[in-house]
Amino acid sequence: MTLQQNLRDRQPEIGKTPSLANGGRILHVLNPEEIGWGTLREIAEQDGIIGFPLVQAEQTIAQIKEHLGARWETPKWLVYRGARAQVLKACSEVQFAATLPEGWQVAHHITPSDQVITEVQELNLNTGVAPYPAYYMKSEAVPVLTSFIRDDLGSVVATASVADRYHPQGRLAGHVFAGMVSVGATYRGRGLGKLINALALIESAERFNWEVATEHVAADNPASRAMIAACGLDEAEGLRSVIAMRPGEVFTR
Ligand SMILES: CC(C)(COP(=O)(O)OP(=O)(O)OC[C@H]1O[C@@H](n2cnc3c(N)ncnc32)[C@H](O)[C@@H]1OP(=O)(O)O)[C@@H](O)C(=O)NCCC(=O)NCCS
Repeated sequence: MTLQQNLRDRQPEIGKTPSLANGGRILHVLNPEEIGWGTLREIAEQDGIIGFPLVQAEQTIAQIKEHLGARWETPKWLVYRGARAQVLKACSEVQFAATLPEGWQVAHHITPSDQVITEVQELNLNTGVAPYPAYYMKSEAVPVLTSFIRDDLGSVVATASVADRYHPQGRLAGHVFAGMVSVGATYRGRGLGKLINALALIESAERFNWEVATEHVAADNPASRAMIAACGLDEAEGLRSVIAMRPGEVFTR
């Protein structure tokens, strides 16, 4: 995909810029003024899509319409966030309350094999979550943890991910982005989403030493909202993650 290749090509520059973050699927901008709307317009025209995480929605949408064009679409997601201690306490409770069936296994990878990447990407696709590209899952841009559960037959039935994608001098220093949670349709509603999200947060806290976990979720996704809340993250009232999309572009959860 051209957009993902653009991001990969720009990674050396993104990595040096506190106001930018490589989200794997799209570029995120933390402080538009620091980058300059002229530069952002060029990037947006190339990519067709650009993200603005943890912002005041109305103000950001007004800026997007002013600088990129009134026809640009601006879908938004609720923001959930939680401080380390609160999240780890809730996630440990989820972990200890869960029992996996005999023969099921949990795994965590920072540099997954091509086989694992394909299995996780397929599960994401089947559940309507646009997957991360392979290089991103291999932590070649930023550290990314991929966690998953296999059933007794070896199939990947649940997955979640945590990306340590924000620059240490940027506005979201110390924050990680958790998400990409997918549970196979026939396995839903038994606590697997909550469990794999919790285990990914626990494991990533150890590996990335984050201070704040964030997740983005569509307002009309009650299962995901309940799952995230059970892991100790609270809805950040007034904050949204906004995406600017050229008319006709599509972005999934
Ligand atoms: C979201 C998703 C990962 C949840 O996984 P799951 O295994 O079905 O969820 P769990 O069984 O762990 O339940 C988590 C919480 O959601 C609640 N829940 C589950 N299904 C629900 C539903 N359809 N409506 C409302 N709440 C629901 C559960 O009661 C639980 O809350 P609780 O701890 O307060 O009781 C799964 O539905 C999925 O893969 N959806 C498609 C992809 C997606 O939307 N991913 C999230 C992107 S942000």
